[in-house]
Amino acid sequence: MTDEPDVELEARLEEKERFDPPEAFVEQANVSDPDIYEEFEEEWPDCWERAADLLDWDEEYDDVLVDDEAPFYEWFVGGELNAAYNCVDRHVESGRKNHAAIKWEGEGGETRTYTYQDLYREVNEFAAALRDMGVEEDDVVTLYMPMIPELPIAMLACARIGAPHSVVFAGFSADALATRMNSAESEYLVTCDGYYRRGDVLNHKEKADKGLRSVEADVETVVVDRLGDELTHFLGKRHHDYDELVAEQSGERVDPVSRDAEDMLFLMYTSGTTGKPKGVKHTTGGYLSYAAWTSHSVLDIKPEDSYWCAADIGWITGHSYIVYGPLALGTTTVMYEGTPDYPEKDRLWELVEKYAVDIFYTAPTAIRSFMKWGKEYPDSKDLSSLRLLGTVGEPINPRAWKWYYKHIGDESCPVVDTWWQTETGGMMITTLPGIGTMKPGSAGPALPGIDAEIVDTAGEAVSPGDAGYLTINNPWPGMLRTLYDNDDRFINEYWREYSDSEADEWVYFPEDGATIDEDEYITVLGRVDDVINVSGHRLGTMEIESAIVGVPGVAEAAVVGGSHEVKGEAVYAYVITEDGTEGGEELYDSIIENVERAIGPFARPEEIIFTPELPKTRSGKIMRRLLEDIANGEQLGNTSTLRNPEIVEEIQAQVSAE
Ligand code: WT7
Repeated sequence: MTDEPDVELEARLEEKERFDPPEAFVEQANVSDPDIYEEFEEEWPDCWERAADLLDWDEEYDDVLVDDEAPFYEWFVGGELNAAYNCVDRHVESGRKNHAAIKWEGEGGETRTYTYQDLYREVNEFAAALRDMGVEEDDVVTLYMPMIPELPIAMLACARIGAPHSVVFAGFSADALATRMNSAESEYLVTCDGYYRRGDVLNHKEKADKGLRSVEADVETVVVDRLGDELTHFLGKRHHDYDELVAEQSGERVDPVSRDAEDMLFLMYTSGTTGKPKGVKHTTGGYLSYAAWTSHSVLDIKPEDSYWCAADIGWITGHSYIVYGPLALGTTTVMYEGTPDYPEKDRLWELVEKYAVDIFYTAPTAIRSFMKWGKEYPDSKDLSSLRLLGTVGEPINPRAWKWYYKHIGDESCPVVDTWWQTETGGMMITTLPGIGTMKPGSAGPALPGIDAEIVDTAGEAVSPGDAGYLTINNPWPGMLRTLYDNDDRFINEYWREYSDSEADEWVYFPEDGATIDEDEYITVLGRVDDVINVSGHRLGTMEIESAIVGVPGVAEAAVVGGSHEVKGEAVYAYVITEDGTEGGEELYDSIIENVERAIGPFARPEEIIFTPELPKTRSGKIMRRLLEDIANGEQLGNTSTLRNPEIVEEIQAQVSAE
């Protein structure tokens, strides 16, 4: 089922430069004692009490870890807590009510600041409104919203009443929304009228309404008015206006519901090998402790910081490191609605200067764009407030790493390259910024308490420098507990490959290829399944293929990731038409349209290559690796095992002609 790890990418491992954390950083770091690795190992699993200690519990837990039903692990068993209480109330109670919790900036420059007291009020009022609508504990509430403050408010309101949220990234299509709502049997939706993108108004409600037509449940919807009079929209029978609902609940307070540590906090859908997205289940106790712990130890967040993660809350990065982690620690989290290059390419640096940002966390794809635009943009702003930089989402090439370190961090901020996944809940592999020497291109060692190993197909550890598969040998509090309503798929996707179930030895397989060096630094090479990573967005090739095959006139399609200078990977689609002819412009456009309709514009193919045949092995399997090599314009290896070797040259000629 898995391909060979991408050895081509190993070229960048030749990197030898090292950078030590600056003294000034080390002196103030939350974690600076290198003994922490050993301590976690010795104390494991009790070491995770340190994470749980960052939270306030209504009921103390009896056991840190229960592994009787492994790999259905349970953490902090017997404990009870509320996530909204931990992210909001306790900071109000400890005398920090006037401290800014969220500083929001709209694309056009509007601003809103919510102190912890403001957040407390609004979360309570919206929680009361949800209750009035009939939302009960354990009902899944879908949130389909862009980067506006009502999104984290709605998340926390759900958490307050014990209703798991399922956030669907606003860039997803109507169809994708419907699939996720149906899968979670969600009967409630919070969305908004529209938002701005590069000065244009996007009609979001229209998209949500369209999606709702394919949802089986009789959904009750709340609509946030983001645009004022810019867009007329109709509320309809089961649609409510957010502002009206909240106004009706003015001054209302809702007691935070004590949730069992293992109760679901949220669901997050992500792409996998098959066409059907997976509903990753995260829990209240384990997830929240892990998000808080990694925010403390890796992002070095302190309450007085101005902290900015420039991701979207619609993905796991935003859940863990815009909302839950930073707010649990009582800091100020900056939230920006727009894109980095609008109205100018200095927009992010303008915000770093304006909000005197201490910690900045973004994706390699963004850094590669910054590089392309040129250093004059960051140079024109005062970035001296920065203390720490981070990246996440895909491998970072050493050149981009060094550019970030130099031009954004002025060679005085550590850079943490954090490897993790939707499923892991929080960071797993990275240097600790106050301890570890940084090696550009390599994420670093596994975090304390995390037992990562790089193995071959037989599960044996590979030698330093050799490519293998990344595996995790121990459970951790932030791990997914299962896939929603699908325990079998949970086992099959993550635990089948390297576990020995007879011996009750469970090994988590994240489906990434990697290498490890003598210092146990791990370099992640990329996915080894049929998942591609476009600008840090995870896309299942099967999902795209089925959208393409749904276009009349298309007989067969194969989608692969080809390397892309800025996006990391881009979507390459090889398509066979029904009548064997070369598809024209019209077919080309309908393919693009269908992909955008099924998934969203971010899944749009970079190139569509019409071909009379696909390269197949004698057993009829499509040779994806070959298609990737063609997309990358690389030298092809041995094609003699193909049933139809002649097709390769034909496709190659076509790609280079385009
Ligand atoms: C996949 C997970 C984690 C939040 C954003 C993506 C890749 C992630 C790194 C990194 C190399 C990385 C992996 C992983 N990935 N971070 N620092 N270096 N690769 O979450 O959508 O669940 O995707 O992103 O391939 O499996 P996701």
